[in-house]
Amino acid sequence: MARGRFILLEGCDRAGKSTQCAMLVKALQERGHSVELCKFPERTTTIGQMIHAYLTNSKELDDKAIHLLFSANRWEAMQAMKRKLEQGTHLVVDRYAYSGVAFSTAKGLDLKWCMNPDKGLVRPDLTLFLDLPTAEAERRGGFGEERYEKRELQEKVREVFLRLKAKEWVVVDARKSIEAMHQEILNEAEQKIREGEQAKEDALLE
Ligand code: TMP
Ligand code: MG
Repeated sequence: MARGRFILLEGCDRAGKSTQCAMLVKALQERGHSVELCKFPERTTTIGQMIHAYLTNSKELDDKAIHLLFSANRWEAMQAMKRKLEQGTHLVVDRYAYSGVAFSTAKGLDLKWCMNPDKGLVRPDLTLFLDLPTAEAERRGGFGEERYEKRELQEKVREVFLRLKAKEWVVVDARKSIEAMHQEILNEAEQKIREGEQAKEDALLE
């Protein structure tokens, strides 16, 4: 069986990542794939509860301390994620280390320092960056509920994301309709999955 693909959706707050992740998981499942959703921060763990308390302003933490907690929250999920990929399950992941670096760097921490704790995490096979102008995000429902949902910071976060953007990233225009974005994301994901299956077949024939 081919290894599962790690499909990551990244972007600023209110770009539609969670909606698109749920739609992608459902569509892939309907097509007979084994697929699971992962989300960072994963708020259900002990570390995740501390992150949640910070994001909802019920707890204050040093910028470096919260950065490391976000990273630790990924590390604590790593073994289970690797196992699922090895078993052929695809993972659709809502935010990852790029969010970690983008938000903390936007707050003023050093980019290199921010990247260090995430070094060695399993790599995504496909990164889709849902790009939305900050003014548009602000108009969307719920903006401003959590600590980082402030215009100035989100603008800086977007700038860092665009700096981190590698050539293989797929940029999705998040101003488009939910359905149009879904079609684009599903096409990209299916193509990646086919590539993975093809590589496995080629290896078998060698
Ligand atoms: P969420 O809205 O996707 O649940 O994410 C909560 C906030 O946490 C969001 O503003 C982005 C931020 N964040 C970080 O600052 N560092 C991280 O490593 C992650 C995953 C999210
Ligand atoms: Mg949010």
